[in-house]
Amino acid sequence: MPFLISLLCFVLIPSFVISHEVITRNQFPHGFLFGTATSSYQIEGAVDEDGKGLNNWDVYSHIPGKIRGGVDADVADDHYHRFEEDIDLMHSLGIDAYRFSISWTRILPKGRFGGVNQAGVVFYNNLIESLLSKGIEPFVTLNHFDTPQELEERYGSWLSPLIQDDFAYLADVCFQSFGNRVKYWTTINEPNHFAEFGYMKGRYPPGRCSKPFGNCSQGNSEVELVVVMHNMIMSHAKAADIYRKSYQAKQGGSIGIVVSAYMYVPISDDEVDCQAAKRALAFNVAWFLDPLIHGDYPPEMRQVLGPQLPRFSSEESNQLKHGIDFIGINHYSTFYAKDCIYSQCDKGKHAIEGLVSIGFEKDGVPIGDPQLGMLVFHVVPSGLEKIIGYLKTRYNNKPMFVTENGFSQKDDGSQLVNELLQDDRRVEYHKSYLGSLKNAIRDGADVRGYFVWSLMDNFEWDLGYTIRFGLHYVDYQTLKRIPKLSAKWYRNFLTNNDTQI
Ligand code: NOJ
Repeated sequence: MPFLISLLCFVLIPSFVISHEVITRNQFPHGFLFGTATSSYQIEGAVDEDGKGLNNWDVYSHIPGKIRGGVDADVADDHYHRFEEDIDLMHSLGIDAYRFSISWTRILPKGRFGGVNQAGVVFYNNLIESLLSKGIEPFVTLNHFDTPQELEERYGSWLSPLIQDDFAYLADVCFQSFGNRVKYWTTINEPNHFAEFGYMKGRYPPGRCSKPFGNCSQGNSEVELVVVMHNMIMSHAKAADIYRKSYQAKQGGSIGIVVSAYMYVPISDDEVDCQAAKRALAFNVAWFLDPLIHGDYPPEMRQVLGPQLPRFSSEESNQLKHGIDFIGINHYSTFYAKDCIYSQCDKGKHAIEGLVSIGFEKDGVPIGDPQLGMLVFHVVPSGLEKIIGYLKTRYNNKPMFVTENGFSQKDDGSQLVNELLQDDRRVEYHKSYLGSLKNAIRDGADVRGYFVWSLMDNFEWDLGYTIRFGLHYVDYQTLKRIPKLSAKWYRNFLTNNDTQI
């Protein structure tokens, strides 16, 4: 049996070769949605206009030393005032759908503890109407890393179960206000990433972490991570329940969540590393999805964390099961996973990380083509096919959308604008990942859409404006948007079924 597992493991080890196969739009199923994605805090600006309340990022980004370059997103891309121009850009690309998020405090400036801000409702109504008038389907995220500061100060936001009712209230207001036109809802964007960066690494608000996970000592990361994830899962469940009971039948839409879904492959064909890759996937991807589909946390996690992992009551478990209609996958790259139970590891040997060490190198050789960006990503197109295969098997081919996939360019001030506009490597990235996606669909995966991150350069959280993911370059002085080579490629791919630029 160990031999069989080793053999299987060996077969799973990928060859990370970028394929140069021609990829065209008509190789994707009829009705497949191609789009671009953004999020409210990263693009909207208008920080305190028209009754908007302050959120966690509005406050955090103004604390000296928190954001690279000492910047904030008070203006960002000024999308709040330029959304029509931005919809024209989308229209010129020929996209079918646009994924954006709703700013919680534009709608509910103080969460449940204050009224609905009608100006915020009007803004999103205008955005949705304008998208629909251009034939673009709105694909809406209720929460993308921004929470009302009021809730942070009142009860510690995601650390308290009280957040569940606040989130459910936000969801209710949004379903009621926009649900007659929005057919795709996702509740929380990348809960796994947000919890890790906000409560373990201390890089996102509320900036909490304890050693050795981050360079600060606020709280206890191992405990808080579990609590925050639990509250996010229950918040999703409550929102989904409201949708199912009061809106779905008459509005005819669907609801899902979006997880950060890197792929993890074993660093060797040893059985222990195979198991480590499985644990890495369970801790990083299935943590949120298993409860919402199977009604409980992943068994791989229970094995490691034991009683540290909360139990769901049978009532909760029933409410959770069937909690999503589709899975949103944000996929950027692939890691090697190495066992830290039976093997020596210098890092990553903590239970909360699944006792796995992850990295990008094997015997000094990188897993894929390193990106130039400041985020450490490697280009490993086959990883997309593999993560989709994993989700397909684990969740019985539940419908999926690739809600983000993107390539980063570093901008530390030394790059010329022309270099940034000539983003051939981004074009190659998307072509090769689309090739991998096409293979996954050919093998039977029920994937229904693909969103490029991002429509335009924007505020990249604690990295500020030092990294650019956009198909359009944004000049942050003039706020002018300029299409990059990748925008031209995407337009050709979508409108002429052409792989050329
Ligand atoms: C995922 C996040 O959802 C998004 O906000 C972020 O900008 C991209 N990854 C790139 O890091």
